[in-house]
Amino acid sequence: MKFFIDTAEVAEIEALADTGLVDGVTTNPSLIAKSGRNILDVICEICDIIPGPVSAEVGATDFATMLAEGRKLRDLRPNVTVKVPLTVDGLKVCKVLSDEGTLVNVTLCFSANQAILAAKAGAAFVSPFVGRLDDIGQDGMQLISDIVEIYGQYPDFTTDVLVASVRNPMHVTDAARLGAHVVTMPPSILKQMYGHVLTDKGLAAFCADWAKTGQSIL
Ligand code: E4P
Repeated sequence: MKFFIDTAEVAEIEALADTGLVDGVTTNPSLIAKSGRNILDVICEICDIIPGPVSAEVGATDFATMLAEGRKLRDLRPNVTVKVPLTVDGLKVCKVLSDEGTLVNVTLCFSANQAILAAKAGAAFVSPFVGRLDDIGQDGMQLISDIVEIYGQYPDFTTDVLVASVRNPMHVTDAARLGAHVVTMPPSILKQMYGHVLTDKGLAAFCADWAKTGQSIL
């Protein structure tokens, strides 16, 4: 299972890169807007920190402009993955770019049928948004289960299921249980995954007892 970080904050990515657990990064127009920075600069900086796939999303919605934007983003760095919305034009762009050898992440996926279309369009990744489905009272993880099951029926589907819109560590556990290929999460969720009250308590006890021994390993 791969871990991507869902942020456009370069400092946060730099800090987490040291963990050795970050396989890639996803961004979107809202995250770029929040960073207050130029998308081209941000994507180049992230790509230079994380060697894995870095998703950079197009800003337009029509075929010709999205294709031009996608090609420009792709040419920034070899590890750019072009992110396109799950629309008719977005999937047309996905097909063209995928045929050119570019990795494409199809985003804003909210149904199994949309995920089937993304796979047929040659997407490297499809991004079902679990949190946003949960937010409207639907079951985001059921969608992941459906897509994993469907993709498993077709060996010619090479699209990875990239679980997005992750809101809590249980989303990561559930996605892993279902065999999703990738989870993209905000930095805060990755940090939360390390924590357990019994780990803290146990470590405090071990440290206290170790001090009593007066020993030193080094
Ligand atoms: C994924 O690629 C998206 O950037 C992201 O996961 C969306 O998450 P949100 O629903 O918390 O905005």
